Formats: sequence, C-alpha cells, structure tokens
Amino acid sequence: MNHLSKFLSTTATAFILTTPAFAGDAAAGKAIYDGAGACASCHGATGAGDGIAAAAFNPKPASFTEGVFRLDTDGDGSKGTDTDLANAIKNGAAKYGGNVGMPGRADFSDAQVNDLVAYIRSLKK
Ligand code: HEC
Repeated sequence: MNHLSKFLSTTATAFILTTPAFAGDAAAGKAIYDGAGACASCHGATGAGDGIAAAAFNPKPASFTEGVFRLDTDGDGSKGTDTDLANAIKNGAAKYGGNVGMPGRADFSDAQVNDLVAYIRSLKK
C-alpha cells in the first residue's frame, strides 16, 4: 500500500466511524408522522400512545413521550436503539415478536425512516 492509498483508506475509515448513522431531521419526521405515515392515529398527536385507534391494541402502541421501548430488533440486548426503532418502522413489530397492529412501512426510504426516528426521539418529555 503506498502512502496515498493508506492515507485515503485511513481518512475514509475515520469518516465512517465519526459520521452518525442516523442523522434524521425531526421536523421532516413530524410531517410524515402527522401525514403520510398516519402514525398519529395510533401513537397519538403528541406521541403519548393514545391515538384514536390505540384502544384496540394490546400491547398498546408505544408511548414516545415516555421513551420506553419494547423491541430489540437486532438481538443486541438493547431495546429502543435507533436501529430498533428504524427496523420496527420499516418492517412492523410482528416480525420481532411484537404486535401485528404496528404496520411496517417498507415504502419509506431510509431517509424518511431516519427522520421519523429523530422525531420520535424529540417527543420524549
Ligand atoms: C394501526 C396502528 C399503528 C400505526 C398506524 C403505527 N403504529 Fe407504531 N405501533 C403500534 C403498536 C400497537 C405498537 C406496539 C407493538 C408492540 O409493542 O408489540 C407500535 C410500536 C411502534 C414502535 C416500536 C416501539 C417499541 O416499543 O419498540 C415504533 C418505533 C413505532 N410503532 C413507530 C411508528 C411510526 C413511526 C408509525 C408511522 C409511520 C407507526 N408506528 C404507525 C401501532 C401503530
């Protein structure tokens, strides 16, 4: 490996390690949450898990204001990481042993999912 390629690979590695995997935009996430995502109908307008459709589900839709999550979608022993929230949004909860009431949104781009994750994080009181 010559000096230039060593420099480039070191720089690229440093960039990958320091760039947050989830740099979502919470304001954009809110627009999806209230609009195309219809998340508010179950999770509630303020994220408290009290949307008009919430009563039908057990377990209840997650309360984002409490910031307590149930699903460990990647089996890393931690619930409610950014990856877990993104997986639940993309694939639904049933895939991870959760409630079928949480629909997957495979139609959303990764950027949209990251925006939703950022918005969910911002709802914690
Ligand atoms: C039809 C009702 C419904 C809709 C619409 C819905 N959810 Fe859910 N959601 C649920 C239910 C019920 C759960 C609880 C699943 C469980 O804990 O087993 C849940 C769980 C979740 C979780 C996992 C939380 C945890 O405890 O790990 C996330 C994240 C989530 N929803 C985000 C969203 C987002 C973002 C949207 C909109 C794109 C959305 N949901 C739309 C009903 C819904």
